Parts: sequence; structure tokens; C-alpha cells
Amino acid sequence: MAYRPLRKGAYVVMESSARQHMLSRLKRAGGGWVSGGDLSRELRISRTAVWKHVCSLRSEGYVIESSTRKGYLLRESLDRLVPSEIEASLRTARLGRRVVCEREVDSTNRLARDLAIAGAAEGTIVVAESQTAGRGRMGRRWFSPAGEGIYLSLVLRPRFQPAEAPKTTLLAGVALAEALSPIVPTRVRIKWPNDVLAGGRKIAGILVEAAAEIDAIDYLIIGVGINVNTPRRRFPAELRDRATSIAAEAGRPVSRAEVLADFLGRFERLYDRAAREGFGPVIRRWRELSDMAGRRVRVRSFDRRLEGTILGIDDDGALLMTATDGAVERVMAGDVEYMEEAKG
Ligand code: BTN
Repeated sequence: MAYRPLRKGAYVVMESSARQHMLSRLKRAGGGWVSGGDLSRELRISRTAVWKHVCSLRSEGYVIESSTRKGYLLRESLDRLVPSEIEASLRTARLGRRVVCEREVDSTNRLARDLAIAGAAEGTIVVAESQTAGRGRMGRRWFSPAGEGIYLSLVLRPRFQPAEAPKTTLLAGVALAEALSPIVPTRVRIKWPNDVLAGGRKIAGILVEAAAEIDAIDYLIIGVGINVNTPRRRFPAELRDRATSIAAEAGRPVSRAEVLADFLGRFERLYDRAAREGFGPVIRRWRELSDMAGRRVRVRSFDRRLEGTILGIDDDGALLMTATDGAVERVMAGDVEYMEEAKG
């Protein structure tokens, strides 16, 4: 096995394991044959070692056909969030190249923060099959059933100023909306500050936690929860009308590892661009992917309660709205409730 156990139930990926590369190679063949000779040459291992890895993958549940003439063909993969599955789909240069996987954890954000304090490098990700105390914004819980969703926390150590940190929530929202749009047939839209909706229901949420000095960020934890394969009936009654999943919208289950890898790829490109050019491109794309402008809303922000019409977000990512008395209000943090049904 290519995993080094951290402690019971946890795995950390070892760099460039032959087994992971083999799984990637078989996956990238897209259901085609890959010759044993090619695998042996590319991975610099013997044909016997190739065969042993095939047996190990089969014993985990992968369906791999073999033929003396043609080689190996991956017939069925597994929807598991383990390093080998994630690595097989990952196209990033840095993000997600170090993976910590847990079967169950209280909160991936809590674990990622502990790892960041212990010195985890930028790009480290923590994923879990389930969370017992998944955190949402405003002290809420994030519904985290086993094996059905993506519960991800990404450690970042950006060079930008602490005041820019909230904009990473917007950046994650853009990456999420762009990753989900091609696979969800209903309209995917971002809702300020941290929700992604599909057909008007919440499909993903973002929780960014930061540790910073006055003038420098020590680390950011980008926590992302995506409802992937949860059937609508399995959401708790209080969420059923407001939440949805990719499978509920698309009518078919999808690979969590592929969704996760696609999100990370998009996040990395936007993040690198923000480091070069600032957050302007992120803000502009966010505006395109949100349909909040013109909507009637109720906003709760610290001790303020506002009602009015959304104008949009400003260049700092703050929400702008016209309150019922006609004053233009600027909201830095808060919760927004639409007063009319979201458009599908
Ligand atoms: C929200 O919409 O309120 C934010 C939800 C964020 C949930 C994710 S799941 C992975 C990560 N770990 C947590 O405890 N929370 C975030």
C-alpha cells in the first residue's frame, strides 16, 4: 500500500507512489487498455510489481481486466476520497499535493488548523468521509453524512495582506460555481458571502478561518462542504426544502474525487492569478456568477437588521444594498435571506 498510517483511520499520501501513478494512468486511459510493458517502463518497476499493484487495487474493489496481449483496463473505479483516487484526477501544481484523509473527524477545519499550527505546508488538504461536528457559518452545523459529500479543508499561506483574506471566500465561491456548472443541469449561482446554490437550493458552502498578525497572514483554512451524492430525501427535514446535491440535480451519482480535483484546479488558477494581479478578476467573475443584484433581501449583520434591494458587491467584496429608507448600505459580513423564491 502507498499510504503511511498517521494513526487509526488516517492516511497521508506518500510522494509519487507507483500504485497511485498506476491508478492515474489507468484512469486517464478512459476505459482503454494500457500495456503492462508501458506501465513497467513508465513507473520503473518490474512487471511482477505491476501485477502486484493490480491485485492490491482489485482487493480494494477496483474492477481491472487483464489480458496477456493487451495489458490492463480499469472497468470500475471507486467513489472513495482516498489519496490514490484524488491524485489520479488532480491537475494542480501545488494544491492537494499533500493529502490527509480521515474516515471520520469532528471537523476537517479543526484538523487542518491543528496541522497548520504544527507547520503544514501551503496546499495541504484534509478530507474526511464524514464529520461529527462539521462547522458552518454563524455557529451552524454542516450536515456531513458518510461517503456522500466532500468535506475539505485547504491550508494556505498567502503573502497578501490580512484585509484581503475575506476575498478568498469569494474566490472559493467562483471556483465552486465553475466546477459545478458543467455537471449540474440547474442554474448554479453564488450567494454572498459563502453559499453556492443550484436551482435556488444550497449545494455547497464555504467557511474560511484565518490566523494573522497585523500585517501578515500566518495561515488560512479554506473549508468547503459540497453535497455530492446525497439523495434529497436523506437531508434532515429542516434542510430538505433548502438544500440539494449534485446527484439530486443531475439524476446520477458523480465521482467525488473528480469534483474535488476539478475544484482544486480552478481554485489554484484563480489563487495564482490573484497573487499576480490582485482580486479584481475574481470580483468580476463573482459578479457574473451571482444573480443577487436587484433581489429583495433581509440581511443580518452583527447587531444590524436590514431590509432592501441588493446592488451587488464592491471591489473589496462587501455587499452593497439600498435599504427601505433609500440609504445605500455597505455590509462587510452577515447573512442574507432572499424575500422571494430563488430563480431555478
Ligand atoms: C456554511 O455554508 O455555513 C459553511 C459550510 C462549510 C462546511 C465545510 S465542510 C468541510 C469544512 N470543515 C468544517 O467543519 N466546515 C467546512
